[in-house]
Amino acid sequence: MEKKVNQFVFEVYDSEAQLSKSDAALLLKAREITKIAYAPYSNFHVSAVAKLTNGEIVTGTNQENASYPVGICAERALLSALGTLFPNVAIDTMAIAYHNINGESNKPVSPCGMCRQALVEYENRTKSPMRLILSGMDGEVFVIEQASQLLPLSFGGDDLK
Ligand code: THU
Repeated sequence: MEKKVNQFVFEVYDSEAQLSKSDAALLLKAREITKIAYAPYSNFHVSAVAKLTNGEIVTGTNQENASYPVGICAERALLSALGTLFPNVAIDTMAIAYHNINGESNKPVSPCGMCRQALVEYENRTKSPMRLILSGMDGEVFVIEQASQLLPLSFGGDDLK
């Protein structure tokens, strides 16, 4: 028997003011579009903004449904649009923000498990890591070097061969 360790390092900033200009702009855009999320049931408005390697910016927000499981998270709404609008173009960086109407929005939250799987699929599909910027409407910002770091020992296409 051997024991293996899996850990990753990520960056923590006090606020967007410490980010590079382009990262700050992406995060501000994400914060801005939380207001167009469709989240009448949870009142938890999430947004995702991707900067592609071709320079394009693509956005997504959570889209809820009265039949709750039908709703889709912001990250996967974005990836679905992206896969159609710019098939196979890699994502350089994705900023993910949220506004919790009934509570606090001052610390980063990270993508749910299903979204992590979808983000890793996109990295595998484009053979390119995507940086993630995570934050609420203010407060600390996490920067993660690649989405797959959030899903160790992930299941992927290679497992199906
Ligand atoms: N949500 C996202 O959009 N992304 C996540 O990573 C976590 C959760 C949405 C789903 C639902 O509309 C609301 O937030 C509350 O769970």
